[in-house]
Formats: sequence, C-alpha cells, structure tokens
Amino acid sequence: MKIAILKETAPQETRCAAIPETVKKFIALGAEVAVESGAGEHAAIADSEFEAAGATIAGREQVLTGAGAILCIDGPDVGTLAGAGKGALLVGALDPLRRKETVQAYAKAGLQALAMEWMPRITRAQSMDILSSQSNLAGYKAVIDAAAAYGRAFPMMMTAAGTISPTRVFVMGVGVAGLQAIATAKRLGAQVSATDVRSATKEQIQSLGAKPIFVENVAGIEGEGSGGYAGEMSDEYRKAQAELVSQHIAKQDIVITTALIPGKPAPRLISDAQISSMRPGGVIVDLAADAGGNVEGTVAGQSTERHGVTIIGATNLARSLPADSSALFSRNLYNFLSAFWDKDKNEPDLPDDDEIVQSIRLTQSGEVVNQRQMEA
Ligand code: NAI
Repeated sequence: MKIAILKETAPQETRCAAIPETVKKFIALGAEVAVESGAGEHAAIADSEFEAAGATIAGREQVLTGAGAILCIDGPDVGTLAGAGKGALLVGALDPLRRKETVQAYAKAGLQALAMEWMPRITRAQSMDILSSQSNLAGYKAVIDAAAAYGRAFPMMMTAAGTISPTRVFVMGVGVAGLQAIATAKRLGAQVSATDVRSATKEQIQSLGAKPIFVENVAGIEGEGSGGYAGEMSDEYRKAQAELVSQHIAKQDIVITTALIPGKPAPRLISDAQISSMRPGGVIVDLAADAGGNVEGTVAGQSTERHGVTIIGATNLARSLPADSSALFSRNLYNFLSAFWDKDKNEPDLPDDDEIVQSIRLTQSGEVVNQRQMEA
C-alpha cells in the first residue's frame, strides 16, 4: 500500500503527520511512503531526512496518485485531494462535528475518513490517542507561557538581597493537560494546588506533590464519568465550587484552566469578579478557550488584560512545539495503522465490529457511517 504524507495547508498548522522514524516503520511493514515536499519544514524535518528514511519526495498530486492511505494532521478540503485512490483511508484530526459538510464531501469522494480524535478511551487505544498526546504538551506549554508572561520568578530564592517567595499556581481541571501542568509548575519550583470534579483525581494531585482543593459534602463525580470524561455538575455543586474557588483564587498568582465536557461548551469556572480579586500582575491561561473558555472574557487565540491580570486564551498549544507534537501525533497514527496491519494484503484491515474502528470511522463506500456523526 502507498501511504501519502501531506504538507498541511491550515495557515497556523506547524505539525507534520510523519517523522522519519514512522516512515521507516511503515516501510518495514511493507508499505511505500510518499511525502509531499516541505511537509516537515515547520517541525524541523528536511525532505532529505524523509528521503533517507526511505520515502519518496514529490509534489502533492504525485504523492496522492494511487495512495491507499493519506495521513494528515488537520482534515484537508476534499478539493485538494485529487488523485487519491477510490476508498483510500484519510486519517487525521478531522474535526467531524465542526466540519460536517467536509465529512459529507469525503463520503462523496469515496474516501474512508477516520477521525483520530474519536479514539475510544480504552487501554488498547492509549498509544493511538492524539487528544492525550497533544494535551500533554499543551499542559506543559501553558505553564511555560504563563511563566513568560509573569513578571516574577517561580521558585523560592534566598539571596543576599533578600528572599523571593514562590509563585502560587492553581490548576483547574486535572485531565491529561492539567496533570502535566501540575508536574511542570512543580518542576519550576512553584507552590501548586489543583481541583477537578472527578474525585479520582485527588490522589493523582497528591502524588505529584500538589495540594488538592475539592468541594466537600456535595455529590461530585465519584471516579470517572463516561469514557473517563466529566459530565455537567448540579447547580448545588457549581455554587459550592464557585465559593471555594473565590476564596482560593484571591491568593493565587497563576491559574491554568483546562476543564472540558465533551460535546458541551466549556464550564465557566472563573468570573470577572474573581479575576479582580487576584493580585495585579497575575496570569491566567485558559486552555479551554476554543470551547468557549473557562474564564469570563477569554478571547480565543489572544492575550488580554483585565483588572491588571493577563488572560491568555490558549488555542492548540501543541502547535507551538511542532517537533515534539509531530513526533507524538505521527506515532499515534503509526500505532493505529500497524495494530490493524494485514501482512498478506499489505494494508490495514479494519473490521466493522471493532470498537476502535466503529468509533473513528466516519465514512465508507460513499456514505457517512458513524453513529455519533449522524446523531450530532
Ligand atoms: P478533558 O480534556 O475532557 O477535561 C479536562 C479535565 O477537566 C477533566 O479532568 C475533567 O474532569 C475536568 N472538568 C470538567 N468539568 C470541570 C469543572 N466544572 N470543574 C473542574 N474540572 C472539570 O479530560 P482529559 O484530559 O481528556 O482526561 C479525562 C480522563 O480520561 C483522565 O482520567 C484520563 O486519564 C483519561 N484518559 C484515558 C485514556 C485511555 O484510557 N485511553 C486516554 C486519555 C485520557
């Protein structure tokens, strides 16, 4: 099977769907790999490195001609896929709910679209999960960006000129990004606290040496919600959470918010009044900015200032670490395709009754076939 690696066309995209390591591995499986010239340029991978790994380098049309699988980061417009074989797999972050018409067009073009962000949260699929691999980097980068925007140092420093007290960092939402944010802030020497609605996260926060801040005596989510995700909370819980946060936030220097509820707008966790209670010079990084924001007044993709506090509406932070995010994303793609590789047919065999296939397959034989997509 020929695998095509596209150069991304979205204006701010920096990542690449392959690295030389995954090219080599695909070739070892028996595949042929064609990389569009310049595909790795923002991720610091030269065409010559892909070539040395065994890929052929060519223009888009040639790369697509006869391809049985097209690997991408963001789902391309169908008009840019001319030449791909009928029934070719299109694998990447296809953003199916926001790009319903594009998904219809994939079906019409006879492509088999596979949305990697819908990978089920099961043990077998952990190594294929692009949301985890990219969120992990985003959690790290959120803290680095906060530190860069903050006019003070993170660790306690005892110097001849006096003592600098440690920065207080509060992480709201302790999923994959939140856990990495806690770990990064701790490594930088901050005093870290964190909260979540899932009580299972309490122990995880403690194991990283941070202080859990939890609503007590009101029913939260015990353990994990469906698929490991959180659900919406009761009014009583939200009120108790707002009171708790109000007291705590007034003493914080930096707040990183990461709370998301799948398929719903991000929960509002910080009000304008709460922002005004923070010390001027404070920084909030809102990682939920794309989903409407956890913070009142967040502007997605922009840094704004309110009451002397900088609010960073972070969007797709993984793009700001293109070499690492490309490497992890590419390995997620390889881990998925290789797990289903049929050596005799020399292509992936994607059984209809497999949980992974059912979750991520959007289109097949000219139709939209995904239940979640059809119900949305
Ligand atoms: P997410 O990105 O959907 O949400 C981030 C965090 O925000 C979650 O921890 C959620 O509980 C929290 N949150 C939601 N509403 C909140 C509110 N009102 N106040 C405070 N916090 C709130 O979550 P993510 O990062 O995708 O991870 C969720 C879980 O799934 C984790 O336990 C993770 O370990 C698990 N997981 C399992 C995988 C697998 O088994 N293959 C792969 C990836 C994650």
